[in-house]
Amino acid sequence: MDKKKFYITTPIYYPSGTWHLGTCYTTVICDAIARFKRKQGYDVFYLTGTDEHGLKIEQKAKEAGVTPKEYVDVKVANLKALWARLKISYDKFIRTTDDYHEAAVKKIFDKLYEQGDIYKGEYEGYYCVPCETYWTKTQLADGKCPDCGREVSIAKESCYFFRLSKYQDKLINLLENNEEFLLPKSRRNEMINNFLKPGLSDLAVTRSTFSWGVPVSFDPKHVIYVWIDALMNYVTALGYAGEDDTLYKKFWPADIHMMGKEIVRFHSIIWPALLMALDIPLPKKVYGHGWLLMGQDKISKSKGNIVDPIELADRYSVDAVRYYLLREIPFGQDGAYTTRAFLSRLNADLANDLGNLVKRTVAMVNKYEGGTIPKWSGVKENTDDEIIRLAEATLDEVAANMDELHIPEALERIFRLVQRANKYIDENAPWILAKDETKKGRLADVMYVLLECIRITGILIEPFLPDTAAKVLSSFDGLTAEETTFDSTKKFGSLKAPAVIERDAIFMRVDVEKEIKDLESKIEEAPKAEEAPEAPLPPEITIDDFMKVGLRVGKVIAAEKMEKTDKLLVMKVEVGKEVRTIVSGIAKYYTPEEMVGKQVVVVANLAPHTFRGVVSQGMLLCADDGKGGIVLVSPEKAVRSGSEVR
Ligand code: ME8
Ligand code: MG
Repeated sequence: MDKKKFYITTPIYYPSGTWHLGTCYTTVICDAIARFKRKQGYDVFYLTGTDEHGLKIEQKAKEAGVTPKEYVDVKVANLKALWARLKISYDKFIRTTDDYHEAAVKKIFDKLYEQGDIYKGEYEGYYCVPCETYWTKTQLADGKCPDCGREVSIAKESCYFFRLSKYQDKLINLLENNEEFLLPKSRRNEMINNFLKPGLSDLAVTRSTFSWGVPVSFDPKHVIYVWIDALMNYVTALGYAGEDDTLYKKFWPADIHMMGKEIVRFHSIIWPALLMALDIPLPKKVYGHGWLLMGQDKISKSKGNIVDPIELADRYSVDAVRYYLLREIPFGQDGAYTTRAFLSRLNADLANDLGNLVKRTVAMVNKYEGGTIPKWSGVKENTDDEIIRLAEATLDEVAANMDELHIPEALERIFRLVQRANKYIDENAPWILAKDETKKGRLADVMYVLLECIRITGILIEPFLPDTAAKVLSSFDGLTAEETTFDSTKKFGSLKAPAVIERDAIFMRVDVEKEIKDLESKIEEAPKAEEAPEAPLPPEITIDDFMKVGLRVGKVIAAEKMEKTDKLLVMKVEVGKEVRTIVSGIAKYYTPEEMVGKQVVVVANLAPHTFRGVVSQGMLLCADDGKGGIVLVSPEKAVRSGSEVR
């Protein structure tokens, strides 16, 4: 039998700024859903990518003195490194600059033009000359350009329009009669009342004021404006209008388009209208989640309130970041980021509840059973029946939550089992049973019940917390594949592994007050200048001597261990507009994952040096404490890549 298929997408990201914690929200949510569906046995296709055309990118590239393509290439490498760090398990990464996508967009535009859904007309709007941007009246800020604050004037230019108005009634019908199409419900009402009912105007879909985009095939002065180019990615990624449309035939229509609420309008009005015009079936669901806020504002680079996900991952682990996003923010609504909530969540659920359960249980099995996992008698005493039923029902209840997109509730349900198991330890007081020779059998059963709860938890948290799941399950020696399937969690007693292994703590408890101080002030105390011998200073140099050293700030965008040595890392470091390969002897002190995303200081005019066949184009500055400790030198605050250090 064919597996059931499941197609989920994130929006394609603008590769134009700095990534922050809010950026990761959509991808982490989709990743948990995709992984969950895979474990349920679905054939999953998880799509993400980048939205690379448009005026903004053209301008940013110009400021940086590079071509738009060079500009986006570096950003995309960066974004991919972030997704790798966060364990995002996408099946395909589409770039709107990919040849097959551009070709398909041209074809689709031609078709819509030929059938009369696109026509040439005149665009009139409020135009900001320095920004080369049109604004509508409502977008203006006090009658001025919302980007630069300068005067705007009414201007006209010829351009192509999509006949959006033609689809108004069909769209109203879609949103009113198909309650599952757009969620949460509040967004549906907003679309109907604020946009559809007041009436739709035709949509300008080309621009001639910039050139970084897909040109109209029969009128190349005009480039296809971002929304047609961008939205089409969801089908072109599958080969629609391309050479091989096998994936399109298999996976379309999408099961879920996930996105933040600010772009719901494009996905629930323009996108279905385009699909209707092309006679393509509509996606099953569009979901507009809320925003991660800092203070009152959406976290965004332009507001200057960046929370760096890599910094948080370096300090507290990737799963800490994933867990916070998945569990703490009420799904569908906005949630405010605070360091306190982040750390408290970590302590309460991961360090205390889960960490302690695993640690206590494994320690007891070692102490009372010599590390052997006892056979379960199947005899139920005390609250056994209740905890067993709770455990066996977990998968179905979590799956129901996932289908409803109640993500935090799904996690909460798994952790209810963890909490119940902790309580079970106290109820059964194994340390008292251990004192009574006649209770040996009961003690063994209590241990088995706890281990089963741990196994079931370890399996079910994998989609949300892949590293933690692996750690939890590594407490069992010789676990077989059958003992780690989703289905095996529904049958208590499936655990057959012979022994437990004591591992490092799953999560370390953190001192919330201390961490808040540390994180928010970013003041790092240097270790005292103790016994370590001080390296003798080289002879005095002049300022001119020093200025011969070209020091620049760079950012590590990729890193890997050099083969056949445990000393060297090979890194891609973005230094201003170039990306360099740098080999550094820091592999004993930093893992490749830790290095990605870090800002570093590069000796940029050092003669190239070859290490085991790899040419290193520069060197990273490190502090050497003279006792074998190596610490990377990094700017105290994030600073523009390429900045001079002197
Ligand atoms: O909108 N909280 O791309 P994008 C939650 N290219 N989600 C956030 C967020 C925050 N603070 N900041 C960003 C675009 N996001 C278009 C899409 S699709 C055909 C074209 C989310 O890079 C945002 O809501 O601005 C969106 O889901 C994703 O990051 C990409 O946003
Ligand atoms: Mg956006």
